[in-house]
Amino acid sequence: MSSAIPVIAIDGPSASGKGSVAERVADTLGYHYLDSGALYRIVALAAHDKGIEWDDADALGTMVVTLNITFKNGEVLLNGMPVTDAIRSPAMSNGASQVAVHPQVRSALLALQHSFRQSPGLVADGRDMASVVFPDAKLKIFLTANVEERTNRRYKQLLGQGLDAEYEKILSDLKARDERDRSRSSAPLIQTEDAVFLDTDNRNIQEAVAFVLSEYKKVHS
Ligand code: DC
Repeated sequence: MSSAIPVIAIDGPSASGKGSVAERVADTLGYHYLDSGALYRIVALAAHDKGIEWDDADALGTMVVTLNITFKNGEVLLNGMPVTDAIRSPAMSNGASQVAVHPQVRSALLALQHSFRQSPGLVADGRDMASVVFPDAKLKIFLTANVEERTNRRYKQLLGQGLDAEYEKILSDLKARDERDRSRSSAPLIQTEDAVFLDTDNRNIQEAVAFVLSEYKKVHS
């Protein structure tokens, strides 16, 4: 029975570092890891490749069920082809946030997300892990940082990858995505009442990981 398998849900805004924290928590516990944002990014990429507009909700919903999405050895595969880097581009970050507003897309991705819940446990990161996908999660974390701090992190990350980065452009993109992710009617980014707030403005990744693990210890014996 899947509900006996513990889930740690980590939600938060773009570029908050929740992915790195979630992945390390999963590694430490030997749990599986679900990067749900990657799924919305794949939908944006697949739509782009097929010439489907990101606002065409019905066509997107129909397309999603035809996609073969797999995660293998740190790579994301779409129909067997690696798309790990392609889905991280600024264009796909923006596209993911646009396709994610449609209930048709969200519901088509639900079963796939649930299938990640496997023994001995799952750490899942996204926007609606606690509110919609795994409402019975054992631990719910709302991880955030202020938008300037998140812009700085993304800016350094892009430069570190040898990519072009413009601080002001990243800041305005992040603000636009925050606004869209928080204000959409279908599964918006919210902190659920039972979630623990984790502000990472003044915490590095190791400290954030330690915080999550210590919260988990309190609820999981
Ligand atoms: O976590 P991320 O930056 O990779 O997510 C990309 C976009 O996907 C984000 O702007 C909103 C959407 N998303 C979502 O709506 N629900 C999720 N559970 C995860 C991501």
